Amino acid sequence: MSALNTNARIAVIGAGAMGAGIAQVAAQAGHPVLLLDNRPGAAAQAIEGIDRQWAKRVDKGKLAAAARTATIARLQAVETIEALADCELIIEAIVENLEVKRALFRQVERICSEHAILASNTSSLSITSIAAQLNRPERLLGLHFFNPAPIMALVEIVSGLASDPALAECLYDTAKAWGKKPVHTRSTPGFIVNRVARPFYAESLRLLQEGAADCPTLDALMRDAGGFAMGAFELTDLIGHDVNYAVTCSVFDAWYGDTRFQPSLIQKELVDAGRLGRKSGHGFYSYAEGAQRAQPAHISSDAAIENCVVEGDPGIAQALIPRLREHGVEIVQRDGPGLLRVGDAVLALSDGRMASQRAKEDGLRNLILLDLAFDYGKAGRIAISCSADTSQSALEQGVALLQRAGLQVSLLSDSPALAVLRTVAMLANEAADALQQGVASASDIDLALRAGVNYPQGPLAWADAIGLPHILKVLENLQASYGEERYRPALLLRRRVAEGRTFHD
Ligand code: NAI
Repeated sequence: MSALNTNARIAVIGAGAMGAGIAQVAAQAGHPVLLLDNRPGAAAQAIEGIDRQWAKRVDKGKLAAAARTATIARLQAVETIEALADCELIIEAIVENLEVKRALFRQVERICSEHAILASNTSSLSITSIAAQLNRPERLLGLHFFNPAPIMALVEIVSGLASDPALAECLYDTAKAWGKKPVHTRSTPGFIVNRVARPFYAESLRLLQEGAADCPTLDALMRDAGGFAMGAFELTDLIGHDVNYAVTCSVFDAWYGDTRFQPSLIQKELVDAGRLGRKSGHGFYSYAEGAQRAQPAHISSDAAIENCVVEGDPGIAQALIPRLREHGVEIVQRDGPGLLRVGDAVLALSDGRMASQRAKEDGLRNLILLDLAFDYGKAGRIAISCSADTSQSALEQGVALLQRAGLQVSLLSDSPALAVLRTVAMLANEAADALQQGVASASDIDLALRAGVNYPQGPLAWADAIGLPHILKVLENLQASYGEERYRPALLLRRRVAEGRTFHD
């Protein structure tokens, strides 16, 4: 079954932030769209709102006046559900409440044609349970847009237990024809993105709670080393802590309290205080007029560097070597366990152990651990930690080396797997579990995280690039350090390592 023809009438029920955005997307793609809300006049107001935004775009020369007129003419506000009778696709974006959604779809089923496809934009409810009481549950699926719907490319096509696979294909092709990046997923808590992205917030929140670093430093590391568009604190301030905390709680509850999804007390306290982020003027940061944002912490050094001895293969951090060479550092290569030596300092990519523990276990003095960077060749910042015996002069030599490559250096307290590495390892672990459970394919999981939350790389492809044995070691060491189930490696990760395969083979 291919994409719906643009003559097909689309209904959108719920004219709030999401419904209005979805109606706009469908009308832009050429469909006649009927918009319904149970607040009288709300649908018409939503269309006026879209028109006002478009008028501004026409004024700025970003949109042709004719395109605005044609698209707005395709949008029609209606006040009764009966008006939707001849729509071929009926998308619901009303309040997030199972009983209210079920009642609405029972009404829809009574008035619509037997060929109509029913879709819910729910973020957190089960498609299987929304569909359960319908006469034909097979024609209800999830069509999960991201906010704002006209801008965000991802659409999760969610199949419940009864959903007809041919209709899932039709919605997939239709979303593609609307200029979106669709992915298929099964109806499981959080679908793909709201599940797999949880560690992005959780690991930064935990590091903050443990005093590893402050918010501006952790945010800067996620951006400048991790390659993420925003750090977890600035992003949750933008999303709203009430919304982000509620999603975490709903996923945590839906997974029967699995500690991998455990909500953070720090975030709960913000919610309790009414510090909801930008929208309330205060979250992790203050948005009051004139409020000064603290700068990320970094340390600098003016120690002289003679050369850098590279012993063996430093793993993915290998990309630092050409960068050091470009900046005039003499590189001496010899065999060894994958270390960099500069003066008295020994530098190594973190393997998930704390620096002091690794120094003791591996008999290394003046050990400085390096965090992961998305691209060591281009990163602007890197996190380090050091063992208790690292002398001030060794630390200065290590920092001077990284500075020579043009990196700002942020020193974290001696924390297992630092900041970016532990976040990426946990994202990949969650993605591996979702892959094993058949929630989605590896390529759809990666695409969902890139298109839905703008990650620089999908977590599975990222783990492949780092090397699955290293990711497994990091998780095992995190689990040993904390003694917590939360960091248990996914079975599929262990299996792929045992088989010598990647996630994408
Ligand atoms: P919203 O509160 O902005 O809009 C909901 C609209 O539905 C309101 O205009 C309300 O009057 C109307 N409504 C409520 N009950 C109705 C009924 N029985 N019949 C007709 N209209 C009714 O909510 P928002 O944010 O647009 O969310 C809508 C849905 O989209 C929810 O299921 C939510 O989980 C989901 N969603 C929300 C996202 C977000 O970031 N806001 C992202 C993705 C999905």
